[in-house]
Amino acid sequence: MISIRQEKPEDYQSIYSINKFAFDSEVEAKLVNNLRKTKGFIPNLSLVAVKDSRVVGHILFSVIHIQTDTNYVPALALAPMAVLPEYQRQGIGSQLIREGIKKCKELGHKIIIIVGHPNYYPRFGFSPAVEKGLKLPFEAPEEAFMVYEIIPQALKDITGMVVYPPEFAEV
Ligand SMILES: CC(C)(COP(=O)(O)OP(=O)(O)OC[C@H]1O[C@@H](n2cnc3c(N)ncnc32)[C@H](O)[C@@H]1OP(=O)(O)O)[C@@H](O)C(=O)NCCC(=O)NCCS
Repeated sequence: MISIRQEKPEDYQSIYSINKFAFDSEVEAKLVNNLRKTKGFIPNLSLVAVKDSRVVGHILFSVIHIQTDTNYVPALALAPMAVLPEYQRQGIGSQLIREGIKKCKELGHKIIIIVGHPNYYPRFGFSPAVEKGLKLPFEAPEEAFMVYEIIPQALKDITGMVVYPPEFAEV
C-alpha cells in the first residue's frame, strides 16, 4: 500500500538518496535542496511516496514562468521526480504524478511543464509543448518538452519562452 504525502524535514535525507540512486547522479538531489531555498518552492507540492513506512519516491513541482510578448505568466515545472530503483515499475511514479496534479489543481495552478521521457508523461495528459507555441531556453529533444493544461485551454493566447530560475542551470 502506497501513500502520498507532503514532505517533512525529516524526509530530506531520504529524498536526497532517492534522487541520487534513481538518477545515478547527485545533480537532481542537489537541485531539490537548492529549490527548497527559492521563492518558487511550494511545500505542499514536494510530495513523497511512502511504502511500509519507507520513503521510496519523490516528486517536486515548483514555480517557473512563461515569457510572452506582454506578460510573465506563472506555471509549474515538474522536476525532478524519482523512485528508488528497486521500487520502480510498480505504479509508484504514476501515483505521485496523479496525486501531484490533483494537488496542483487544488492550489489553483494551471500549467505544468516537463522536460522528460516522451513515452512516459503523455499517459498522464502531457502533450508536446512546441505544438502549443512554447520554447525552451536550452537544448533538449523536442519530444521531451511537454506541457499539461490543468485547466483546459490554460495556454490559450499564451505562447513564448519558458523561464527557469537559475538553480536549474546546474541540471
Ligand atoms: C521515471 C520514474 C520516476 C517512473 O517511476 P515508476 O514508479 O517506475 O513509474 P510507474 O511504475 O508508474 O510507471 C512505469 C513506467 O515508467 C516508464 N519508465 C520508467 N523509467 C523510464 C525511463 N528511464 N525511460 C522511459 N520510460 C521509463 C516505463 O515506461 C514504465 O512503463 P511500463 O511499465 O508501461 O513499461 C522512475 O523510473 C525513475 O525514478 N527513473 C529514474 C529517474 C528519472 O528518469 N526521473 C524522471 C525524469 S523525467
